Amino acid sequence: MKKIKVGVAGYGVIGQRLADGVVRQGDMELVGIVDLEPTLSIRALKEKGMPYNLYLVDGADRTKFDRLGIPVSGSFGDLLGKVDIMLDSAPGGVGAKNKMLYEKAGVKAIFQGGEKNSVADVFFHGYANYEKGLGADYLKLTSCNTTGLIRSVDCLDRRYGVDRVAITIIRRVADPGDYHRGLTNALQIDKAPSHQAVDLMTIMPHIQATGILVHTPVTHGHIITVVAHGRNGKITREQALEAFRGHERIRVVRIDDGFLGNASFFRYARDLGNPRGDMYEIGLWEDSIVESGDDIMYAINIPQESVTIPETIDAVRAALRMQPDSKSGTAKTNGFLGLGGWK
Ligand SMILES: NC(=O)c1ccc[n+]([C@@H]2O[C@H](COP(=O)([O-])OP(=O)(O)OC[C@H]3O[C@@H](n4cnc5c(N)ncnc54)[C@H](O)[C@@H]3O)[C@@H](O)[C@H]2O)c1
Repeated sequence: MKKIKVGVAGYGVIGQRLADGVVRQGDMELVGIVDLEPTLSIRALKEKGMPYNLYLVDGADRTKFDRLGIPVSGSFGDLLGKVDIMLDSAPGGVGAKNKMLYEKAGVKAIFQGGEKNSVADVFFHGYANYEKGLGADYLKLTSCNTTGLIRSVDCLDRRYGVDRVAITIIRRVADPGDYHRGLTNALQIDKAPSHQAVDLMTIMPHIQATGILVHTPVTHGHIITVVAHGRNGKITREQALEAFRGHERIRVVRIDDGFLGNASFFRYARDLGNPRGDMYEIGLWEDSIVESGDDIMYAINIPQESVTIPETIDAVRAALRMQPDSKSGTAKTNGFLGLGGWK
Protein backbone atom coordinates (compact mmCIF):
# COMPACT_ATOMS: atom_id res chain seq x y z
CA MET A 1 0.00 0.00 0.00
CA LYS A 2 1.27 3.46 -0.92
CA LYS A 3 1.64 5.61 2.18
CA ILE A 4 0.53 9.25 2.19
CA LYS A 5 3.56 11.51 2.53
CA VAL A 6 3.17 14.18 5.20
CA GLY A 7 5.27 17.19 6.28
CA VAL A 8 4.91 19.37 9.39
CA ALA A 9 5.64 23.13 9.36
CA GLY A 10 6.52 24.57 12.78
CA TYR A 11 7.91 22.08 15.30
CA GLY A 12 6.46 23.82 18.39
CA VAL A 13 3.85 22.74 20.93
CA ILE A 14 1.44 21.41 18.28
CA GLY A 15 3.94 20.51 15.54
CA GLN A 16 5.96 18.04 17.55
CA ARG A 17 2.79 16.27 18.60
CA LEU A 18 1.50 16.23 15.01
CA ALA A 19 4.79 14.67 13.88
CA ASP A 20 4.52 11.96 16.56
CA GLY A 21 0.87 11.35 15.65
CA VAL A 22 1.62 10.96 11.94
CA VAL A 23 4.43 8.48 12.66
CA ARG A 24 1.88 6.27 14.45
CA GLN A 25 -0.39 6.08 11.36
CA GLY A 26 0.34 2.85 9.48
CA ASP A 27 -0.88 4.42 6.22
CA MET A 28 1.12 7.67 6.43
CA GLU A 29 4.80 8.56 6.29
CA LEU A 30 6.35 11.59 8.00
CA VAL A 31 8.79 12.96 5.41
CA GLY A 32 10.09 15.74 7.63
CA ILE A 33 9.55 18.88 9.63
CA VAL A 34 10.40 22.49 8.78
CA ASP A 35 11.25 25.28 11.23
CA LEU A 36 12.98 28.61 11.49
CA GLU A 37 15.09 28.53 14.65
CA PRO A 38 17.07 25.97 16.67
CA THR A 39 14.40 26.15 19.43
CA LEU A 40 14.60 23.99 22.55
CA SER A 41 12.25 21.51 20.84
CA ILE A 42 14.65 21.23 17.86
CA ARG A 43 17.62 20.88 20.20
CA ALA A 44 15.77 18.11 22.05
CA LEU A 45 15.10 16.43 18.69
CA LYS A 46 18.83 16.48 17.96
CA GLU A 47 19.64 15.08 21.41
CA LYS A 48 17.13 12.27 20.71
CA GLY A 49 19.15 11.30 17.62
CA MET A 50 17.21 13.27 14.97
CA PRO A 51 14.32 10.80 14.45
CA TYR A 52 12.74 13.33 12.03
CA ASN A 53 14.42 15.07 9.09
CA LEU A 54 14.66 18.82 9.56
CA TYR A 55 14.20 21.33 6.72
CA LEU A 56 14.68 25.09 7.04
CA VAL A 57 12.29 27.94 6.32
CA ASP A 58 13.70 30.48 3.83
CA GLY A 59 15.48 33.17 5.81
CA ALA A 60 16.55 30.80 8.60
CA ASP A 61 20.19 31.25 9.64
CA ARG A 62 21.79 27.91 8.75
CA THR A 63 24.97 28.73 10.71
CA LYS A 64 23.00 28.63 14.00
CA PHE A 65 22.07 25.01 13.26
CA ASP A 66 25.58 24.08 12.06
CA ARG A 67 27.13 25.52 15.20
CA LEU A 68 24.93 23.22 17.31
CA GLY A 69 25.64 20.22 15.07
CA ILE A 70 21.94 19.93 14.09
CA PRO A 71 21.67 18.10 10.72
CA VAL A 72 19.61 19.91 8.06
CA SER A 73 18.06 17.93 5.20
CA GLY A 74 17.22 20.86 2.91
CA SER A 75 14.93 23.83 2.32
CA PHE A 76 11.16 24.29 2.74
CA GLY A 77 10.92 23.94 -1.04
CA ASP A 78 12.81 20.61 -0.93
CA LEU A 79 10.31 19.28 1.61
CA LEU A 80 7.34 20.51 -0.43
CA GLY A 81 8.68 18.59 -3.42
CA LYS A 82 8.39 15.33 -1.48
CA VAL A 83 5.00 15.52 0.28
CA ASP A 84 1.31 15.04 -0.53
CA ILE A 85 0.15 17.29 2.29
CA MET A 86 1.52 19.75 4.88
CA LEU A 87 0.31 20.10 8.46
CA ASP A 88 0.95 23.76 9.25
CA SER A 89 1.48 24.51 12.94
CA ALA A 90 3.52 27.67 12.57
CA PRO A 91 2.56 30.56 14.90
CA GLY A 92 -0.93 32.02 14.27
CA GLY A 93 -0.92 34.13 11.07
CA VAL A 94 2.32 32.65 9.72
CA GLY A 95 0.39 29.74 8.21
CA ALA A 96 -1.40 32.16 5.89
CA LYS A 97 2.01 33.25 4.54
CA ASN A 98 3.17 29.64 4.20
CA LYS A 99 0.01 28.96 2.19
CA MET A 100 1.50 30.87 -0.74
CA LEU A 101 4.32 28.30 -0.84
CA TYR A 102 1.83 25.42 -0.69
CA GLU A 103 -0.18 26.88 -3.55
CA LYS A 104 2.94 27.35 -5.65
CA ALA A 105 4.04 23.77 -5.01
CA GLY A 106 0.51 22.39 -5.54
CA VAL A 107 0.51 20.79 -2.09
CA LYS A 108 -2.55 20.45 0.14
CA ALA A 109 -2.38 21.79 3.71
CA ILE A 110 -4.14 21.69 7.05
CA PHE A 111 -3.93 24.75 9.31
CA GLN A 112 -4.44 25.07 13.06
CA GLY A 113 -6.82 27.26 15.06
CA GLY A 114 -4.60 30.36 15.24
CA GLU A 115 -5.15 31.11 11.53
CA LYS A 116 -8.15 33.06 10.24
CA ASN A 117 -10.96 30.91 8.81
CA SER A 118 -10.33 32.53 5.42
CA VAL A 119 -7.01 30.63 5.11
CA ALA A 120 -8.94 27.45 4.25
CA ASP A 121 -11.74 26.16 2.04
CA VAL A 122 -13.23 24.16 4.92
CA PHE A 123 -13.33 24.74 8.69
CA PHE A 124 -12.99 21.12 9.79
CA HIS A 125 -13.87 18.68 12.57
CA GLY A 126 -13.31 14.94 12.11
CA TYR A 127 -16.67 13.94 13.61
CA ALA A 128 -18.98 16.87 12.87
CA ASN A 129 -18.20 17.61 9.19
CA TYR A 130 -15.63 15.11 7.82
CA GLU A 131 -17.55 14.78 4.56
CA LYS A 132 -17.16 18.52 3.82
CA GLY A 133 -13.39 18.05 3.86
CA LEU A 134 -13.41 15.27 1.22
CA GLY A 135 -10.92 16.20 -1.49
CA ALA A 136 -10.46 19.77 -0.16
CA ASP A 137 -7.07 21.42 -0.73
CA TYR A 138 -6.98 23.63 2.36
CA LEU A 139 -8.60 22.81 5.66
CA LYS A 140 -8.46 24.59 9.01
CA LEU A 141 -8.82 22.70 12.26
CA THR A 142 -10.95 24.00 15.10
CA SER A 143 -9.04 25.33 18.14
CA CYS A 144 -8.28 23.05 21.07
CA ASN A 145 -11.37 24.04 23.10
CA THR A 146 -13.67 23.91 20.09
CA THR A 147 -12.31 20.49 19.05
CA GLY A 148 -13.12 18.96 22.44
CA LEU A 149 -16.40 20.83 22.80
CA ILE A 150 -17.66 19.68 19.39
CA ARG A 151 -16.65 16.09 20.15
CA SER A 152 -18.99 16.02 23.13
CA VAL A 153 -21.84 18.02 21.54
CA ASP A 154 -21.66 15.97 18.32
CA CYS A 155 -21.74 12.80 20.43
CA LEU A 156 -25.11 13.83 21.93
CA ASP A 157 -26.35 15.37 18.68
CA ARG A 158 -25.73 12.24 16.61
CA ARG A 159 -27.55 10.07 19.09
CA TYR A 160 -30.40 12.25 20.37
CA GLY A 161 -30.37 15.60 18.48
CA VAL A 162 -29.25 18.91 20.02
CA ASP A 163 -30.54 22.35 19.06
CA ARG A 164 -29.00 24.66 21.67
CA VAL A 165 -25.89 24.86 23.84
CA ALA A 166 -24.47 27.40 26.28
CA ILE A 167 -20.91 27.01 27.54
CA THR A 168 -18.51 28.41 30.09
CA ILE A 169 -14.83 27.95 29.28
CA ILE A 170 -12.29 28.04 32.09
CA ARG A 171 -9.27 28.57 29.86
CA ARG A 172 -5.65 27.82 30.77
CA VAL A 173 -3.72 30.94 29.91
CA ALA A 174 -0.47 29.35 28.64
CA ASP A 175 1.15 25.97 27.95
CA PRO A 176 3.51 24.29 30.46
CA GLY A 177 6.94 25.88 30.05
CA ASP A 178 5.67 29.17 28.61
CA TYR A 179 6.91 32.50 29.94
CA HIS A 180 5.21 34.90 27.53
CA ARG A 181 2.17 35.47 29.79
CA GLY A 182 4.37 36.45 32.75
CA LEU A 183 3.84 35.36 36.34
CA THR A 184 0.15 36.05 36.84
CA ASN A 185 -2.48 35.87 39.56
CA ALA A 186 -5.73 37.07 38.05
CA LEU A 187 -8.70 35.90 35.98
CA GLN A 188 -9.82 37.69 32.83
CA ILE A 189 -13.13 37.55 30.98
CA ASP A 190 -13.52 37.82 27.19
CA LYS A 191 -16.47 39.54 25.55
CA ALA A 192 -19.34 37.10 24.94
CA PRO A 193 -20.05 35.09 22.89
CA SER A 194 -16.76 33.20 22.99
CA HIS A 195 -15.26 32.33 19.58
CA GLN A 196 -15.64 28.64 20.43
CA ALA A 197 -19.45 28.99 20.55
CA VAL A 198 -19.41 30.92 17.28
CA ASP A 199 -17.09 28.32 15.71
CA LEU A 200 -19.39 25.51 16.83
CA MET A 201 -22.26 27.18 14.95
CA THR A 202 -20.11 27.52 11.81
CA ILE A 203 -19.47 23.77 11.82
CA MET A 204 -22.85 22.68 13.24
CA PRO A 205 -25.21 25.37 11.86
CA HIS A 206 -28.31 23.54 13.13
CA ILE A 207 -27.27 24.30 16.74
CA GLN A 208 -27.65 27.68 18.45
CA ALA A 209 -24.61 28.26 20.68
CA THR A 210 -23.34 30.94 22.98
CA GLY A 211 -20.85 31.16 25.80
CA ILE A 212 -18.44 32.97 28.09
CA LEU A 213 -14.69 32.43 28.42
CA VAL A 214 -12.61 33.07 31.55
CA HIS A 215 -8.79 33.00 31.28
CA THR A 216 -7.16 31.41 34.34
CA PRO A 217 -3.46 31.46 35.32
CA VAL A 218 -2.95 27.69 34.96
CA THR A 219 -1.29 25.57 32.26
CA HIS A 220 -2.61 22.00 32.59
CA GLY A 221 -5.78 22.00 30.50
CA HIS A 222 -9.01 23.92 30.01
CA ILE A 223 -12.33 22.94 31.58
CA ILE A 224 -15.62 23.65 29.78
CA THR A 225 -19.08 23.36 31.28
CA VAL A 226 -21.78 22.75 28.67
CA VAL A 227 -25.56 23.16 28.97
CA ALA A 228 -27.28 21.42 26.04
CA HIS A 229 -30.91 21.21 24.95
CA GLY A 230 -32.26 18.20 23.06
CA ARG A 231 -33.85 18.88 19.66
CA ASN A 232 -36.17 15.89 19.96
CA GLY A 233 -37.03 16.26 23.64
CA LYS A 234 -35.10 16.04 26.87
CA ILE A 235 -31.77 14.17 27.01
CA THR A 236 -31.60 12.37 30.35
CA ARG A 237 -28.49 11.91 32.50
CA GLU A 238 -28.47 8.16 31.73
CA GLN A 239 -28.77 8.74 27.98
CA ALA A 240 -25.94 11.28 28.00
CA LEU A 241 -23.68 9.01 30.04
CA GLU A 242 -24.32 6.06 27.74
CA ALA A 243 -23.44 8.12 24.65
CA PHE A 244 -20.27 9.59 26.20
CA ARG A 245 -19.10 6.14 27.37
CA GLY A 246 -19.38 4.82 23.82
CA HIS A 247 -17.15 7.54 22.30
CA GLU A 248 -13.52 6.65 21.59
CA ARG A 249 -12.18 10.18 22.12
CA ILE A 250 -14.00 10.79 25.41
CA ARG A 251 -12.64 9.35 28.67
CA VAL A 252 -15.43 9.24 31.26
CA VAL A 253 -14.01 9.54 34.81
CA ARG A 254 -15.20 10.03 38.40
CA ILE A 255 -14.13 12.54 41.02
CA ASP A 256 -14.18 9.75 43.65
CA ASP A 257 -11.53 7.89 41.65
CA GLY A 258 -9.17 10.85 42.07
CA PHE A 259 -9.89 12.91 38.97
CA LEU A 260 -10.25 16.14 40.94
CA GLY A 261 -9.53 18.52 38.06
CA ASN A 262 -7.29 19.41 35.12
CA ALA A 263 -4.05 18.55 36.94
CA SER A 264 -5.29 15.00 37.70
CA PHE A 265 -5.55 14.30 33.95
CA PHE A 266 -2.07 15.68 33.34
CA ARG A 267 -0.62 13.51 36.08
CA TYR A 268 -2.54 10.43 34.91
CA ALA A 269 -1.25 10.87 31.36
CA ARG A 270 2.30 11.04 32.71
CA ASP A 271 1.68 7.94 34.84
CA LEU A 272 0.50 6.17 31.67
CA GLY A 273 3.90 6.99 30.19
CA ASN A 274 2.38 9.14 27.43
CA PRO A 275 5.10 11.35 25.91
CA ARG A 276 5.12 14.82 27.57
CA GLY A 277 1.95 13.90 29.53
CA ASP A 278 -0.11 14.14 26.33
CA MET A 279 -3.73 13.00 26.11
CA TYR A 280 -5.58 12.80 22.79
CA GLU A 281 -8.93 12.24 24.47
CA ILE A 282 -11.01 14.76 26.39
CA GLY A 283 -12.01 13.90 29.96
CA LEU A 284 -15.64 13.99 31.01
CA TRP A 285 -16.69 13.84 34.65
CA GLU A 286 -19.51 11.36 35.20
CA ASP A 287 -20.29 13.21 38.44
CA SER A 288 -20.71 16.50 36.55
CA ILE A 289 -23.64 15.32 34.39
CA VAL A 290 -26.86 16.88 35.70
CA GLU A 291 -30.30 17.64 34.38
CA SER A 292 -31.57 21.22 34.69
CA GLY A 293 -35.21 21.25 33.64
CA ASP A 294 -35.15 20.15 30.00
CA ASP A 295 -31.41 20.78 29.68
CA ILE A 296 -28.47 18.48 30.28
CA MET A 297 -25.27 19.89 31.78
CA TYR A 298 -21.77 18.39 32.02
CA ALA A 299 -18.08 19.34 32.33
CA ILE A 300 -15.14 18.31 30.14
CA ASN A 301 -11.35 18.59 30.42
CA ILE A 302 -9.40 19.72 27.32
CA PRO A 303 -5.69 18.74 27.12
CA GLN A 304 -4.92 21.71 24.89
CA GLU A 305 -1.52 20.62 23.58
CA SER A 306 -2.63 17.27 22.14
CA VAL A 307 -6.42 17.33 21.65
CA THR A 308 -6.33 18.60 18.05
CA ILE A 309 -3.93 15.87 16.86
CA PRO A 310 -6.57 13.16 16.09
CA GLU A 311 -8.88 15.58 14.24
CA THR A 312 -5.90 16.95 12.25
CA ILE A 313 -5.08 13.41 11.17
CA ASP A 314 -8.77 12.92 10.26
CA ALA A 315 -8.35 16.01 8.06
CA VAL A 316 -5.49 14.32 6.15
CA ARG A 317 -7.79 11.34 5.59
CA ALA A 318 -10.59 13.58 4.29
CA ALA A 319 -8.39 15.82 2.11
CA LEU A 320 -6.81 12.80 0.40
CA ARG A 321 -10.04 10.78 0.34
CA MET A 322 -8.36 7.98 2.25
CA GLN A 323 -11.72 7.06 3.86
CA PRO A 324 -15.12 8.14 2.51
CA ASP A 325 -16.84 9.21 5.72
CA SER A 326 -16.45 10.33 9.30
CA LYS A 327 -17.13 6.89 10.73
CA SER A 328 -14.41 5.09 8.79
CA GLY A 329 -11.96 8.03 8.87
CA THR A 330 -12.10 8.60 12.63
CA ALA A 331 -12.02 4.82 13.25
CA LYS A 332 -8.71 4.51 11.33
CA THR A 333 -7.16 7.43 13.22
CA ASN A 334 -8.39 6.07 16.54
CA GLY A 335 -7.03 2.60 15.78
CA PHE A 336 -3.52 3.85 15.02
CA LEU A 337 -3.49 6.19 18.05
CA GLY A 338 -4.83 3.49 20.38
CA LEU A 339 -7.85 5.59 21.34
CA GLY A 340 -10.57 3.99 23.44
CA GLY A 341 -8.16 1.37 24.78
CA TRP A 342 -8.99 2.38 28.37
CA LYS A 343 -12.56 1.05 28.15
N1 LIG B 1 -0.49 25.65 22.06
C1 LIG B 1 -1.70 25.16 22.08
O1 LIG B 1 -2.15 24.69 23.13
C2 LIG B 1 -2.54 25.14 20.83
C3 LIG B 1 -3.70 24.35 20.83
C4 LIG B 1 -4.45 24.27 19.65
C5 LIG B 1 -4.09 24.98 18.53
N2 LIG B 1 -2.96 25.77 18.58
C6 LIG B 1 -2.61 26.48 17.33
O2 LIG B 1 -1.52 25.78 16.71
C7 LIG B 1 -0.69 26.71 16.00
C8 LIG B 1 0.73 26.60 16.51
O3 LIG B 1 0.75 26.94 17.89
P1 LIG B 1 1.92 26.43 18.85
O4 LIG B 1 1.44 26.69 20.25
O5 LIG B 1 2.35 25.05 18.49
O6 LIG B 1 3.08 27.48 18.50
P2 LIG B 1 4.62 27.41 18.93
O7 LIG B 1 5.05 28.83 19.07
O8 LIG B 1 4.82 26.48 20.08
O9 LIG B 1 5.34 26.75 17.66
C9 LIG B 1 5.47 27.40 16.43
C10 LIG B 1 6.73 26.90 15.73
O10 LIG B 1 6.75 27.40 14.40
C11 LIG B 1 8.07 27.84 14.08
N3 LIG B 1 7.99 28.80 12.96
C12 LIG B 1 8.09 30.15 12.96
N4 LIG B 1 7.94 30.63 11.72
C13 LIG B 1 7.74 29.57 10.89
C14 LIG B 1 7.51 29.43 9.50
N5 LIG B 1 7.44 30.48 8.68
N6 LIG B 1 7.31 28.18 9.01
C15 LIG B 1 7.36 27.11 9.81
N7 LIG B 1 7.57 27.19 11.14
C16 LIG B 1 7.77 28.41 11.67
C17 LIG B 1 8.59 28.41 15.41
O11 LIG B 1 10.01 28.47 15.42
C18 LIG B 1 8.03 27.36 16.40
O12 LIG B 1 8.90 26.25 16.54
C19 LIG B 1 -1.35 28.09 16.19
O13 LIG B 1 -2.23 28.29 15.12
C20 LIG B 1 -2.13 27.92 17.49
O14 LIG B 1 -3.20 28.82 17.60
C21 LIG B 1 -2.18 25.84 19.69
